[in-house]
Parts: sequence; C-alpha cells; structure tokens
Amino acid sequence: MSSGRYQALKGMKDIMPPDIHVWQSVERKAREVFSAFGFREIRPPIVEATGVFTRSIGENTDIVEKEMYTFEDKGGRSITLRPEGTAPVVRCYVENHLYNMPPPQKFYYAGPMFRYERPQSGRFRQFYQIGAECFGSPHPAADAEMLSMLRHFLSGVGLPNLKFQVNSIGCENCRPAFKDSLVAFFAEKIDDLCADCRRRYGQNPLRILDCKVEGCREARKGAPRVTDHLCEDCRVHFEHLLLLLEKLGIPHSVNPEMVRGLDYYTRTTFEVTSENLGAQNAVAAGGRYDRLVKEFGGPETPAVGFAIGMERVVELLKAAVQYDLPRPLAFLAMLGKQAGIEGVLIADRVREKGLWVELGDAGSSLKSQMRRADRLNAQYVFIAGDDELRAGSLKWKRLSDSAEGEVAIQGVVDFLQSLS
Ligand code: HAM
Repeated sequence: MSSGRYQALKGMKDIMPPDIHVWQSVERKAREVFSAFGFREIRPPIVEATGVFTRSIGENTDIVEKEMYTFEDKGGRSITLRPEGTAPVVRCYVENHLYNMPPPQKFYYAGPMFRYERPQSGRFRQFYQIGAECFGSPHPAADAEMLSMLRHFLSGVGLPNLKFQVNSIGCENCRPAFKDSLVAFFAEKIDDLCADCRRRYGQNPLRILDCKVEGCREARKGAPRVTDHLCEDCRVHFEHLLLLLEKLGIPHSVNPEMVRGLDYYTRTTFEVTSENLGAQNAVAAGGRYDRLVKEFGGPETPAVGFAIGMERVVELLKAAVQYDLPRPLAFLAMLGKQAGIEGVLIADRVREKGLWVELGDAGSSLKSQMRRADRLNAQYVFIAGDDELRAGSLKWKRLSDSAEGEVAIQGVVDFLQSLS
C-alpha cells in the first residue's frame, strides 16, 4: 500500500463550516416551502438495482451510457449509485402501492447523487439535489404548481431573478411524427454533425437540438420546432400552463430547443438557469413524466417533478447574500480549580436549555480566555474566579459595547434565556 495522505476522490468534495451553514439554511427553506405545498419527505436508498435507471432514464442517454457508478455486489447483482432521484421515487411509489392513496401524492427528497462526469466548475461526481415529485394529476395546474414552488423556494433563499425556460416535447402520439421530421431535416446535414450527434441521429434525434458543439448549432438553424408539432391535447396542455405562469407572474420564456438529457419526459419540460454560473448554468430542472409509473408496473399515473442542484444554489448564494455565521451566546471564562468545576456545571445547565455556551480553560490566563471568546465572536463573556464564586455571582460583559454587570449564579440560566 502506498504511504501518504488520502484525498477526496476527483469530483467529490467535503462540505464543511462555514459553507455548511449556507447549505443548512437552503435545506431549511426547501422543507419550509415544500411543506406549505403539501409535499412530504421520502428517503429512498442511495443504491438501486441498475435496471431502475437504465429503464427510466433511457439506454441511449449520456447518463446511462457513460456516467453511472455501476458495480456488482457480492451476490453478483448489478447495482448503481443513484445518478438522480426520480426513478428511485417512482420505484418506491410502485413497490409500496402509494397509488392506492388519494391523488395527488406529493413527495420531496434531498441527498447525494452520483454521475461519472468530467468534473468542472459547477459539475461534480457526487452532488446534492433536492427534488420534488407530484403523482396523480394530469392537469397543467400541477406543472404550474411545481414551477411556483420552485420560484418561492428560489426567492425565499435570496435568488429572486432567475430565468425560467419551458418547453413541451409532446407525447407518444405526436413525438414520433416530430422525430420523423427531424430525421428528414438532418438527413442532408448529417456530415455537418459531431460524432455524438451522428449517433443521436439514429437513436434519439431530439438530442441534436441541444448539442453545444458549434457545427451542430449551425446545422440545426431552421430545424422543425417541437412546439409546432404538438397534438391537440399537448398543445392545449402547454397553452394552459403558459397562461397559468402568466397569471402567477412567473417570468418565463419558451425554448423549443430545450431537450432534457433524460428520456422519461412527456409534454412539459423546464429549466431554471443563471447567467452567473458559466457553462453549467442550470440551477434546477424537471418536467412531466406521465408514462414512468406504468413502465415500472404501476397503474397509469401522470406525474411531474423537478430537482434543484444544491452546489449551484449555494455558489450563487455565497456571491449574492451575506450570511451571519452562528456565534455562541456566552463564553464562561473561569479562573482557578474550583471555578473550573463550577463552570462545567453552569455551562451544562445553560446548554440543557438549547443555548450555545462555550467554556474557557480554567487553567489558562484570563487574557488567553478572552482572546478565545473574541475569536468565537461570543456575545457575552461571564467571568468567575474563586472570589466571585464565594460571593455567589458572576461578572458579565457584552462584547459589542463593553456593557458590564453582575448576575447571581442561580440566575444565569434565566438571564441568558431572556437574552436569546
Ligand atoms: P437533471 O437536469 O439531470 O434532472 O438534474 C437536475 C439538476 O441537478 C441540474 O439542473 C443541476 O443543477 C444539478 N446537477 C445535475 N448534474 C450535476 C452535476 N454533475 N454536478 C452538479 N450538479 C448537477 C434530474 O435529475 C431529474 N431527476 C429532475 C426531475 C425530477 N425531473 C422530474 N422530476
């Protein structure tokens, strides 16, 4: 075994203080907003049978072809670290017969996802999503509700000005004809396409529409637009959604070239992007997937959902919002052996009330304990030497304005509670 220190794997990172405080506040806001919309948390395992993903995301997608962490377990089964959360939630919904409960059933989840992608700014191999899925409503109001929830979350954390892009990619009735018209359109341009798109041409020509390669961008100028090829039902659904977004005051644009990298979508797809993120600019994305529950062996159940990329939200917030770091309410500077013992007891009583108090080292000087109180940015310092203990009281000092006073030892808990 080679000696030396270990590093986190490429594309994976430790999330630590002080950033963790931003993460926690984002998670708190998501729980608060999602609960107000009636979503309940669900926690599927992080590893699933590989088929859960190949079958739903699609055999010919980048995720399934190149990016999955797939292993054989000790029993010879093929298992995969989840690259996304929708397929596991659908598996859970069907396995536990959640469709027997009155619709709509609404769930959210939060946790790590794994994709073996080339790491770059905003793109990781282990990344966190908070996602939400709503089962059982075919109505465009459900799509609008998801977008509205996303907007409340984003403005709630402090990102009110992000762009919403929406599209409809049709259904199994209208998409085949659209695919045919794309195949016809690209037939003469096949040599202008990149190697990936030449492959996509045969397998999934829609994906050519969002290829980032310059030659492909050029080649698709004048290509048929999906929104011009929707069947009547899909068109009515999309128009109703646009009307609701208008009424809800959610600024959005229709992007007929937006094709998502997962095959399970039907009708509505959407993405929220930021100009401040560089190439990986999608903060959240989602759409409708009306066939997936049936694919997994459940009854016909329309569904719609989204997932938020936590790293990207946190990156934007760190640039946009000033966060106050948490700080102790009090620091107990203790001088001498007896005071050291009394300090442990006082701190224990205060902490029992859920208040953050730090305890100095009774063996070191007052000066060095005060330095530590300063570094911790404590709001109050309490000082006790053996003399104070004999008198049954502690001196206190408020570090912001140097106000001072005294409080009986028996009254310290009440005093601190009144301040917090
Ligand atoms: P997705 O577009 O693959 O959709 O991912 C959603 C979000 O996760 C992206 O917009 C991005 O913010 C973040 N994300 C994706 N890959 C990475 C990565 N390698 N590093 C950092 N962040 C990343 C889904 O996953 C669908 N399950 C969304 C959904 C839910 N559709 C319906 N319900």
